Amino acid sequence: MPNTDPVAALCRDRDLPDESLFALLATDRYDTALFSAADRVRRQVYGDEVYIRGLIEISNYCKNDCYYCGIRKSNRNATRYRLSEKEILACCDTGYALGFRTFVLQGGEDPWFTDERVCHIVSEIRRRFPDCAITLSLGEKPAESYRAYFEAGANRYLLRHETADETHYRKLHPDSMSLRHRKDCLFALKRIGYQVGSGFMVGSPYQKTEHLIADLRFLQELQPDMIGIGPFLTHADTPFADFPNGSLPLTLRLVAILRLLFPTALIPSTTALGTIHPQGREMGLKAGANVVMPNLSPVGVRRLYTLYDNKICTDEEAAESRARLEKRVADAGYRIVTAVGDRKKEGDRL
Ligand code: 5AD
Repeated sequence: MPNTDPVAALCRDRDLPDESLFALLATDRYDTALFSAADRVRRQVYGDEVYIRGLIEISNYCKNDCYYCGIRKSNRNATRYRLSEKEILACCDTGYALGFRTFVLQGGEDPWFTDERVCHIVSEIRRRFPDCAITLSLGEKPAESYRAYFEAGANRYLLRHETADETHYRKLHPDSMSLRHRKDCLFALKRIGYQVGSGFMVGSPYQKTEHLIADLRFLQELQPDMIGIGPFLTHADTPFADFPNGSLPLTLRLVAILRLLFPTALIPSTTALGTIHPQGREMGLKAGANVVMPNLSPVGVRRLYTLYDNKICTDEEAAESRARLEKRVADAGYRIVTAVGDRKKEGDRL
């Protein structure tokens, strides 16, 4: 262990040797200093602003079979649905009226959503909402598909790497998938010009601290614009039904470390954080997160997009939940803004 305070070193260098990262992750000893340093940096870059993204879960069909995920193809107990273009556009209409300026279309890898269909939907959203960002989160695709979506008007793409360690990756995914391919997709998205989001689960089965450090190192290599993390949460109809949930404190610690490693990154306080604890999303904001992604999906399908058990979803219409969220974020000491919410560049610090 170097003989210095790891939080001070992290703030100063925006980096930290592996052994100091181990020390930060291993105990709660540094949490108070870590969270207040992360909040200080987030306020220097983003003030008290919280960006909102309207999440539209367009399909829970998936051709993949990731062992952790409730919408994996082998889960016969999942009730499958997909939204029509009309339904997706109606979600955007509702969202726009409520002040959302980013729409996130997320779904399983559903072959029904051909490139032609995706491009049609994206260009229609682009035409109707020229002042909004369009984010896609539709999994691994050929670079030509990513390019076509980009040319149709998409600006951002979310694709978590899930784990950056090859051996660990193999324990979470079937042989048909590969970490190399996932990384290649992320670099292709960057080259095309997307603002790219990646991230990982905290406390997934077989995960060790060294894997988390590999995740941070991979993100340093990728330099994404957005970084989403959340605790692993058990889903009863998956091969990981008997594994425990990930840890809330460890997830918060990693949010804070990410803020200090990547001062200008867009970091959501995720649904998984809100699921593991009633105040989880507020805690995420206080640990350095600056984005929340409320659900704009039609109320009737929300409980079907069950990536994990007890995923928070209410019967509240978007308007009602926007008003509640506004208050919760304000009570935590931040402020929701109506803005497209691009990443700030180094140099346009407040
Ligand atoms: N627990 C927590 N997060 C999960 N995801 C999928 N399954 C789970 C789970 N059981 C996350 C993955 C994926 C994102 C959409 O949801 O990280 O990228």
